[in-house]
Amino acid sequence: MPEYFSNEEFQAEVEKRKHAEAELREYVDKFNDLAEACADVVLYHDLQGNIAFINEAGLKFTGFTRNEALRANIIDVIPEKYLLPMLERQKRRKAGYEKRNVYEIAYVNKNGASIPLEVNSIMVKDKGVPYILLVVRDLRLYKQKERELSENREKFQNILNSIEDGYYEVDLKGRIVFCNESLCRILGYSKDEVTGKSYRESVDEENGKKLLEAFNNVFKTGGTSKVLDWEVIRKDGSKRFVEASIALVKDPENVPAGFRGLVRDITERKQAEEEHKKFELQMRHAQKMEAIGTLAGGIAHDFNNILMNIQGNVSIMMMEIDPADPFYENLKKIEDSVEKASGLTRQILGFARGGKYVIKEIDLNELVGRTAQLFGRARKEINIQTKFQDNAWSVKADQSQIEQALLNIYLNAWQAMPSGGNLYIVTGNVLIDENYIKKFAITPGRYVMISITDTGVGMDEATKQRVFDPFFTTREIGRGTGLGLASVYGIIKNHDGFINVYSEKGKGSTFNIYLPAFGKVKEEKKKETESRIPGTGTILFVDDEQMIIDVGQAILKKLGYNVIIAKGGQEAVDLYTKNRDKIDLVVLDMIMPDIPGSEVFDRIRELNPTVKVLLSSGYALDVQTSGIMEKGCNGFIQKPFNVKKLSAKLNEILHGQ
Ligand SMILES: Nc1ncnc2c1ncn2[C@@H]1O[C@H](COP(=O)(O)OP(=O)(O)OP(=O)(O)O)[C@@H](O)[C@H]1O
Ligand SMILES: [Mg+2]
Repeated sequence: MPEYFSNEEFQAEVEKRKHAEAELREYVDKFNDLAEACADVVLYHDLQGNIAFINEAGLKFTGFTRNEALRANIIDVIPEKYLLPMLERQKRRKAGYEKRNVYEIAYVNKNGASIPLEVNSIMVKDKGVPYILLVVRDLRLYKQKERELSENREKFQNILNSIEDGYYEVDLKGRIVFCNESLCRILGYSKDEVTGKSYRESVDEENGKKLLEAFNNVFKTGGTSKVLDWEVIRKDGSKRFVEASIALVKDPENVPAGFRGLVRDITERKQAEEEHKKFELQMRHAQKMEAIGTLAGGIAHDFNNILMNIQGNVSIMMMEIDPADPFYENLKKIEDSVEKASGLTRQILGFARGGKYVIKEIDLNELVGRTAQLFGRARKEINIQTKFQDNAWSVKADQSQIEQALLNIYLNAWQAMPSGGNLYIVTGNVLIDENYIKKFAITPGRYVMISITDTGVGMDEATKQRVFDPFFTTREIGRGTGLGLASVYGIIKNHDGFINVYSEKGKGSTFNIYLPAFGKVKEEKKKETESRIPGTGTILFVDDEQMIIDVGQAILKKLGYNVIIAKGGQEAVDLYTKNRDKIDLVVLDMIMPDIPGSEVFDRIRELNPTVKVLLSSGYALDVQTSGIMEKGCNGFIQKPFNVKKLSAKLNEILHGQ
């Protein structure tokens, strides 16, 4: 400052200082305003720690009044354990190493609570004197938010990992950036493997397209989407059916960043649905077969009566005329045709309800072996190989029907192998358990299986679905009736068994028949008599059909029997009561309008417990027929019968031959 001033100079100097002071005050005010407006604690102290400034927030935090604070030393405020490091920092600062420092401390307040603080310290100079300016921030709120955030994150993770659905987040390129455990399980990868993988690596081309389309859609509309019914390919190559939801993910600037959603594994549900559908189909099929069976059975029954009439009359004529007669050949042809026609009705009765007549214990090994041998002899181009179960269980069955069923299958196999091939026939004892029956709706237990495999042309899926349908055939018109397997199906069904088929086009077919096991096999020898045997004695012939009566009577008379005719159940009982000493045998029809055969049987048995009865029917409910057989009826003959068959049966019963 000069030693003296001129007046103007002095005035100017005064003005200048005034101005400078005003400016300074303004700065100080500005600093104060700033400091007071600050929510953080702002204070500064000299290098000795004497507090020279503290803002309102500081007072509130420390609990000092302003005067108390301005007389205090920073040591009074700072806990002891921070003092040493603080002094250390000051020393370094003085040495000019650091100007600024940021650190965290925990401050224990008057109530003993530890408060986390962030301290920003900076060395400033006021009129050349160094001060330490501190800006102290209470971190409690931050810490709490941070804790909450990490808790939330953990909770979110736990929830995601506990849900069964897969959760995914992919970026815009379709790479997985985040997912839960379930997604890893569905895709068959570990979490590390799956992160960064594109969704495309887990789908085939077609499904990939489907998903891409859905992603694009969501990207364009900003909405959400669902992709139902698609397949993922797992790491091991296996496939799972899934459905997924897709939503757009945006970053904090509201710019699309990727997609997220859930992936649900619906494989089990789909399988269950499919099984249910299959079961429904099977049920419907069974119902259809039942309806057709009832109808066909009825027709076959009436038809058999007509055939019976033709057969009988032809038989009688053939007995009368000389084989050298020119008409003898015609009669023979008629007889052959009737034989064929009755073969057809036998097929129909096979799948019709009630086509089961003579039930006895059968050794399937013996039966299968015999039919296979017979068949093999007739079709030499086929190589038959058999493998039979030792000690096979026996079954209760109608032998001729099982024979017919097997023959139908053999014939199909032969037709499937036009240039020869192998036919494998295997038998086995099998136990069917609960699991299996759920699929096929059958009774669990012991079964005897007959498995017949050919190396023929096989079947496609559509053919396989329909093989057991009546009248389904792939053969040329006139070559097949399509009744073969329908009758097999019916026969096996009527024996409480079941049948299934495995086949692939070009690879052959396997038919597996299962019949309920009965017990150990008893030896039973069968006698076959094939010629006409004349007889003596009196027969009571019972039938309600005039056609059958006429022909039956004629045949019996030709054979040499005396015949008494009863046109119904009641008449039969009356006639038997009157003539029981005369009557040697009763030929009894099953179905009659007044009294059914079963009841007639019971009533005449009451009159004579040793009465000999031959049951005859063109069609009968198996329960009734086998019921009478079990009660001790002596034999059964199926209409249409000819002279040979009838005479053999009568001879067998009357003379035990
Ligand atoms: N072993 C087999 N291999 C290939 N296809 C078969 C076999 N068995 C049956 N099929 C198919 O199933 C169809 C139905 O057989 P089914 O025995 O019921 O009637 P069909 O043989 O055509 O006529 P029919 O038995 O009256 O002569 C056959 O036309 C054939 O297409
Ligand atoms: Mg056939």
